Amino acid sequence: MTRPYDVTELLPIEKVFRDPVHGYIHIQHQLILDLIDTKEFQRLRRIKQLGTASFTFHGAEHSRFSHSLGVYEITRRICDKFVRNFSVEKEGADGWDDNERIVALCAALLHDIGHGPYSHTFEAIFGTDHEDLSTRIILSPETEIHQVLARVGPGFPKKVASVIQHTYPNPQVVQLISSQIDADRMDYLQRDAYFTGVTYGAFDLTRILRVIRPSKNGIAFQFQGMHAVEDYIVSRYQMYMQVYFHRVSRGMEVTLDRLLKRAKKLYHDPQYSLPVGLLEPFFEESFTLNDYLRLDDGAMTTCFTMWQEHHDPILSDLAGRFLDRRPLKSVRFTPGKDEPVLKKLESIIEEAGYDTEYYTAYNSSYDLPYDFYRPHHDKPGKTQIELMYPDGSIVELSEASELVKSLTGKIRGDERFYVPKEFLNASKREEISLFEPLVEEFNRYIRNNAIIHPDN
Ligand code: NI
Repeated sequence: MTRPYDVTELLPIEKVFRDPVHGYIHIQHQLILDLIDTKEFQRLRRIKQLGTASFTFHGAEHSRFSHSLGVYEITRRICDKFVRNFSVEKEGADGWDDNERIVALCAALLHDIGHGPYSHTFEAIFGTDHEDLSTRIILSPETEIHQVLARVGPGFPKKVASVIQHTYPNPQVVQLISSQIDADRMDYLQRDAYFTGVTYGAFDLTRILRVIRPSKNGIAFQFQGMHAVEDYIVSRYQMYMQVYFHRVSRGMEVTLDRLLKRAKKLYHDPQYSLPVGLLEPFFEESFTLNDYLRLDDGAMTTCFTMWQEHHDPILSDLAGRFLDRRPLKSVRFTPGKDEPVLKKLESIIEEAGYDTEYYTAYNSSYDLPYDFYRPHHDKPGKTQIELMYPDGSIVELSEASELVKSLTGKIRGDERFYVPKEFLNASKREEISLFEPLVEEFNRYIRNNAIIHPDN
């Protein structure tokens, strides 16, 4: 039996991880160090934070491991600041109880522990859910994570899981990890901006950490910090529009989706014997936690490489398109108006000999940059960003900021129709010579119906 942790006891010498975004990540508890050393946490090194976005922004090779450390570090800095300036002893119900620190740090570190390779697409095909898996990893007595957490006390893993599930009773802790301005978003916006090489995500984190404060209902910001919070909202909006919703990354995502869809079909057809490696339990729709924890980006790549040589022409072609970065390309369309044209475009593609089930896709990406809490409309527990005046009174952000008001409650994004790139790439004539009249008809349709051409 291993010794229980005394979480009030700090490491004699703190450990640090060098981090390009935060300088150093400071580890002060043996518990945190032991969590980082578990095999489930180390696995996050082998999963890219941004999935297919690295095909658009080649610098974006950073992992879920570095993001998780970053969220931990921001949370740690916030706890330090809260206990120094806003302890319960000083502030009463508005204050911070530092006994909450360790549960907040663990939840911050583990909030993405259930993510797998290419999560978004993987979940759509195999029906997994990373939030549910995070909970299972934390609660299952088999995992090293659980065994480490249980050394704090028997109820502790449940406590950490409840923060991630938003059911933990202290709203300050829940909102630090998950709200419209939380340590998770503060880290990923800055980290993703850094590694993609764009400047949009670069809001003033130092200033935000200076003006953030606890309140009775959760987290608030001192009123004089309003412009730093505005800047964060605008950064977030721009990162979504320019990076997360990039049409080429989405093209890679739909190509991957079609590839896995084809593989799933062949797997269940007895005349093919499709090698699926570590994905087998997922194709069988019966997987254990351990099966899930064996997956990483490399396991997926191994399958794609095997499939590239498969005798099914659709599977091998799609695997090649993914591995060699030849994504499906898109036109932007107006839903409710352009569908008849899209049907026509689909029929042209079919006429050219493509199976549209695997070679076309609709993709919509929408985001709500910011919203205030609408009591009759929103789920209870949804929060808004609040500013606190020196007298303790509160104002909701969009009421105080015209800039934020202009983005509030407005959904932004677009819908695209994806097709093989040879239909849209006039410079690659040799690839399309076989069905050139069809390609011309396709492009004429796009022009005449004012559907927006790619690269827009
Ligand atoms: Ni995260």
